[in-house]
Amino acid sequence: MAANKEFQKKLRKAERLAYFAGFLFVIAGIGGLFLLYDPDFSIFQKKQNTLLSNNIEIDEDRIENGIHVRTGLIDAKGLMTVVTNCTNCHSAKLVTQNRMSAERWNATIKWMQETQNLWELGSNQKVIVEYLVANYPQKEKGRREHLMNINWYELEN
Ligand code: HEC
Repeated sequence: MAANKEFQKKLRKAERLAYFAGFLFVIAGIGGLFLLYDPDFSIFQKKQNTLLSNNIEIDEDRIENGIHVRTGLIDAKGLMTVVTNCTNCHSAKLVTQNRMSAERWNATIKWMQETQNLWELGSNQKVIVEYLVANYPQKEKGRREHLMNINWYELEN
């Protein structure tokens, strides 16, 4: 009887060992397959900037002729602050086609914060508004200019 128990114990031990070996085998198999399909484990590496086939990086923020190519914004002080805060939700065109005073820009930003989930800009707000007012000024002659130096004549009955 005792020998039988001893045998069962050994059997269980062997069984566990076999399971373990099987487990290792499966893990090794998965690893092997992985190596086969992705030998340099590229899925674990951070995505890099878009590469051309000849390995020249495309600069996402390149400037050509004073224009930030990706967004069309003028390259000037504060550009990247505007790019990172104002071109996520809508096109930069929506920003540049609006020509406002600093006061109205601040009001528009407040409106977006209250209704469109725009985040708090902190000290960046000043940088952004200054950039916009400096580079996209209000058009002075949007309306007809005041009439001046006119010789009015008396109406006669
Ligand atoms: C969280 C998203 C979000 C961000 C970031 C954002 N906006 Fe907006 N903005 C909106 C939405 C939504 C509208 C409304 C779009 C529409 O009417 O089609 C809008 C509209 C506008 C308008 C048009 C307002 C009008 O009266 O028609 C301007 C100008 C504008 N945004 C400028 C900016 C500027 C400048 C920044 C950077 C400080 C900015 N936006 C960042 C969401 C955002």
